[in-house]
Amino acid sequence: MPASSRLLEGHELTSPYKSLHDSYVSDRRDSRCPVSALLAAACLLLLGILLAVTVIEVLKNEDRIHEALNPPQTQTCCNQTDPMEQSSIVLVESFPLGLDYGRNVSAGVDLYDAWKDLLSRASEQIDVASFYWCLTAEDISVNSSSDRQGRDILEEFKALPSRNVSVRVVTSIPTLAPNSTDLKVLKERGVQIRRVNFGRLTKGILHSKFWIVDGKHVYIGSANMDWRALTQVKELGVVIYNCSALADDLQKIFQSYWVTARSNASIPDPWPSDYDTGINQEHPLLLNLSGVQSQAYITASPPVFCPDSRTRDLDAILSAIRGAQDFIHVAVMEFYPASKFFHHHGYWPVIEDALKRSAVDRNVSVCLLVSCGQETDPAVWPFIRSLDALHSPSDNINIAVRVFVIPAGNQSHIPYSRINHNKYLVTEKVAYVGTSNWSADYFSTTAGVALVLSQNASGDSFHQQLRAVFDRDWSSPFSHPLADVQRIHDCAFSTSAP
Ligand SMILES: *[C@@H]1O[C@H](CO)[C@@H](O)[C@H](O)[C@H]1NC(C)=O
Ligand SMILES: *[C@@H]1O[C@H](CO)[C@@H](O)[C@H](O)[C@H]1NC(C)=O
Ligand SMILES: *[C@@H]1O[C@H](CO)[C@@H](O)[C@H](O)[C@H]1NC(C)=O
Ligand SMILES: *[C@@H]1O[C@H](CO)[C@@H](O)[C@H](O)[C@H]1NC(C)=O
Ligand SMILES: *[C@@H]1O[C@H](CO)[C@@H](O)[C@H](O)[C@H]1NC(C)=O
Ligand SMILES: *[C@@H]1O[C@H](CO)[C@@H](O)[C@H](O)[C@H]1NC(C)=O
Ligand SMILES: *[C@@H]1O[C@H](CO)[C@@H](O)[C@H](O)[C@H]1NC(C)=O
Ligand SMILES: *[C@@H]1O[C@H](CO)[C@@H](O)[C@H](O)[C@H]1NC(C)=O
Ligand SMILES: *[C@@H]1O[C@H](CO)[C@@H](O)[C@H](O)[C@H]1NC(C)=O
Ligand SMILES: *[C@@H]1O[C@H](CO)[C@@H](O)[C@H](O)[C@H]1NC(C)=O
Ligand SMILES: *[C@@H]1O[C@H](CO)[C@@H](O)[C@H](O)[C@H]1NC(C)=O
Ligand SMILES: *[C@@H]1O[C@H](CO)[C@@H](O)[C@H](O)[C@H]1NC(C)=O
Repeated sequence: MPASSRLLEGHELTSPYKSLHDSYVSDRRDSRCPVSALLAAACLLLLGILLAVTVIEVLKNEDRIHEALNPPQTQTCCNQTDPMEQSSIVLVESFPLGLDYGRNVSAGVDLYDAWKDLLSRASEQIDVASFYWCLTAEDISVNSSSDRQGRDILEEFKALPSRNVSVRVVTSIPTLAPNSTDLKVLKERGVQIRRVNFGRLTKGILHSKFWIVDGKHVYIGSANMDWRALTQVKELGVVIYNCSALADDLQKIFQSYWVTARSNASIPDPWPSDYDTGINQEHPLLLNLSGVQSQAYITASPPVFCPDSRTRDLDAILSAIRGAQDFIHVAVMEFYPASKFFHHHGYWPVIEDALKRSAVDRNVSVCLLVSCGQETDPAVWPFIRSLDALHSPSDNINIAVRVFVIPAGNQSHIPYSRINHNKYLVTEKVAYVGTSNWSADYFSTTAGVALVLSQNASGDSFHQQLRAVFDRDWSSPFSHPLADVQRIHDCAFSTSAP
């Protein structure tokens, strides 16, 4: 059975997913006679009108109709569960060796330091979701001293059980690292390890990357448990300290992986009520983060792993794009409005459309920063060029695309390195930090998570920091207009540029 039929059977899909499915089955419908299709459409229309009339009759009261059509936007879910908790948030980043901005730039807390800090705080339990583990260079037969930090993190994880910290790890089948020795040695030390067969369950992968520490601190970001994430790949994420409400919420997502890792597991439909959340787009958590009043919620994909109460990752992205009035700044490793695996390269313009509408209909300034490295798939090139081609300020269409290229230098022997792995979005209203590339599979079959945050304007809020990070990278020497891409060594686009 194709995964798509499972998706449809098993779940009430929100509209973007429906359109994804529709485009997939459309060729099967072509055989249908157009006259009968028209008749059917007419009948459906009549039925729809009758139904609408009935509904309106029932509702009667105009205010209630209005309310049903325009549900009130954000009612905050609740205050922080523990008012004594002093929650704080930090932006974390890593930079590939030798990436020199040439000036004194501001940056987030170093990812390695942030992970070390979380490890040192752990006293009871750490749960980690990661696509794969590969914390030493020899695991991929590479000779590089730049895995020192990775080895150190692995040593710390190995030591946790002897400190009486219980550690649970979920990873993916299929995986990029089938020969991971990390998982072997961790298991020997008493770490509980499960692999979720997303290949079998959804025809996707588990691509989420997060930690939950002692039920109160969380990390979410682009970095896998990979030595290259610390010294060879540019990563971005977020750590929130002392926030049991968000940690409990993320725990539900971890648990959904943990239970589906059993060898014969199927995806529950519906998910038991334990997996429901009270924190979502309609009811974000209201909390004080590092002294700034904030609203936060955690999103997930794929849809079949979301109870109705969990905001889907794609829906959060689309509403951030549609809600922007001033600017939309996006940094993603890959932007590919199509599907690579699931729908056989089917076109999937859902996010692209939303970006274009914001730019064309509402004069919102859109900046898209994508990564290009030696292993980047040149198939994305025509799509990003087509977006960039729309840019015409004299017609009030501001939509600019740039390519971020990290010079490989003498590190070119390391596979899957020297890339900008960041996946975030910032508008004048919202900061979004996720784990997914912006292509169809990541929202239909693949597991990912994101943190969505709105904060009151303030000089040093997380939101402002994320904005500054985008500006720093956009105007850095590593960001190139598409017209210059041909001249750039280390970017696979240059081989496909016209
Ligand atoms: C949250 O708590 C503050 C004061 O502690 C209060 O003013 C506010 O009304 C509360 N908000 C909600 C949604 O309960
Ligand atoms: C960079 O800026 C920071 C803070 O603004 C300052 O403490 C540091 O000395 C500066 N470094 C250099 C090399 O200018
Ligand atoms: C790795 O590189 C170092 C220095 O470049 C060299 O001394 C060492 O022999 C190499 N090890 C292997 C296994 O190739
Ligand atoms: C771990 O727990 C065991 C049994 O509860 C106890 O004997 C031991 O002292 C603890 N070790 C540490 C490092 O806390
Ligand atoms: C894993 O190990 C097998 C046999 O040892 C080898 O054939 C294969 O290439 C390895 N895979 C990777 C990704 O290193
Ligand atoms: C977390 O809260 C404790 C008090 O419960 C406080 O001492 C600590 O500094 C807080 N940690 C952070 C990183 O905010
Ligand atoms: C999984 O299901 C198959 C067939 O339904 C059965 O033969 C097998 O024993 C099951 N395995 C486990 C571990 O339950
Ligand atoms: C947020 O918490 C800090 C202490 O962590 C406090 O000083 C500040 O007044 C609080 N801000 C708001 C808006 O509640
Ligand atoms: C921002 O601050 C204003 C006044 O200080 C407050 O009324 C509003 O609820 C705050 N917004 C958020 C998102 O916390
Ligand atoms: C569109 O936005 C730009 C700034 O991005 C502004 O300069 C221009 O005046 C706006 N045009 C209209 C018609 O609002
Ligand atoms: C790589 O190049 C950097 C400077 O560009 C240099 O500092 C470093 O020693 C070189 N490493 C190797 C292994 O050649
Ligand atoms: C997305 O990201 C992963 C690594 O995080 C990469 O391997 C993959 O090729 C990327 N692109 C697409 C379109 O899936």
